[in-house]
Amino acid sequence: MKLWGGRFSAQTDEGAAGFHSSLSFDRRLYRHDINGSIAYAQMLGRQGIVTAADADLIAGGLAGILSDIESGVLAIDGGAEDIHSFVESELVRRIGEAGKRLHTGRSRNDQVALDMRLYVKEEIGLIRARLIELLDALVQTAKRHTGTIMPGFTHLQKAQAVTLAHHLMAYFQMFKRDCERLSDCRKRADEMPLGSGALAATTYPLDREFLKERLGFAAVTANSMDAVSDRDFCIEFLSCLSLVMMHLSRFCEELVLWSNDAFAFVEVSDAYSTGSSIMPQKKNPDMAELVRGKTGRIYGGLLGLLTAMKGLPLSYNKDMQEDKEAVFDAADTAKACLSVFCGMFKTLTFNPGNMRQSALGGYTNATDAADWLVKKGMAFRQAHEVAGRLVLCAIGKGVRLEELSLADLKKESPLFDETFFDVLSPEKCVQARSLPGGPAEAAVLEAIKSAEEYTQRFSV
Ligand code: ARG
Repeated sequence: MKLWGGRFSAQTDEGAAGFHSSLSFDRRLYRHDINGSIAYAQMLGRQGIVTAADADLIAGGLAGILSDIESGVLAIDGGAEDIHSFVESELVRRIGEAGKRLHTGRSRNDQVALDMRLYVKEEIGLIRARLIELLDALVQTAKRHTGTIMPGFTHLQKAQAVTLAHHLMAYFQMFKRDCERLSDCRKRADEMPLGSGALAATTYPLDREFLKERLGFAAVTANSMDAVSDRDFCIEFLSCLSLVMMHLSRFCEELVLWSNDAFAFVEVSDAYSTGSSIMPQKKNPDMAELVRGKTGRIYGGLLGLLTAMKGLPLSYNKDMQEDKEAVFDAADTAKACLSVFCGMFKTLTFNPGNMRQSALGGYTNATDAADWLVKKGMAFRQAHEVAGRLVLCAIGKGVRLEELSLADLKKESPLFDETFFDVLSPEKCVQARSLPGGPAEAAVLEAIKSAEEYTQRFSV
């Protein structure tokens, strides 16, 4: 059944009908759509816009449709234009005349705005739960590795020693921000649009406050034209998920590198690796690569929707139907990536010996050599120059800084003495960086403490 046949004398072209139908993807909104309609029917009854008997009939009919869809008795298919038309037609088929009163004072424009807001709010809850599981896994692993030395990198060149705990806690901060961004996004999605009608509200005395309460929103939307043409909340959601994916992707890139035998910092468990059809020795980090790869689809969804919206005059335009596949795919992809990443992360085997060995190379203590000279009174810029010359000398001899002789050192500066050798081990270099936010064990334990306070707020 078409919801708008009266004005037309000819049939829609078959190709055009298939082209504009959204049922194949917006069918997943059936629960949000039906629950919205049940609340709407109850409100119509309370306000005397439809009789109490009709309101009951409608709500009962919709509840029946919902349970039949859930149990598989009713399949969402056929020629309906979208999920809204599908449900309304089915309702009329089931209860007759009363079903035709449901849409009084409502438009699919405010209806779809409602459904999408309900959907986005729900997905934010599910995605945040997975992020919190990951945050917890990061803290628990970090706790075991506050003394695990590894090189920190800039430009992917060894830079200064850090610990694995400090490195993991960097990701904690990223995913914590993601959690907070999603909560913030949820605040703006949390406005109830029904009562906006097609664009100019409606003449019926709808009780928007009742709908707001009944459907669990924090507020009602403030402008009917904005309410039906706003997809900011979808774009914000895609943007939040883009950042989640960017963080996951960076982490995956590191796992790909770290599991390469040039690093050998970590082994990905068999459960999250794959082999080669020709090379028997291969063990590939496919899950990490796929998460990294899927990041592109979510960015694509974000850019697609931003672009779809940029030229739209107020208020609703059919272009906005393009929000759905982007939002649905992004939510599905982000959830799948978070789950598989979390499983992979929890089953990693780190190799602290190789990490420490790697930190010993690459002159990661050269800054500490310069800092030692500063403590002896030399200006930092000059100390940098001297330490640089020491590095050059050590490279020439094929040794580490701590393997140079006192005589070699004294050639570069008379300030050198035996105590220089005390500050050069990676453990010492890390322990000396004890500022809040630094890698020293005490500072990382502080970070872990507040991280645990954060994650415990969510565990019931
Ligand atoms: N399927 C449509 C969408 O997703 C529902 C709203 C249709 N409104 C309209 N005036 N054609 O945007």
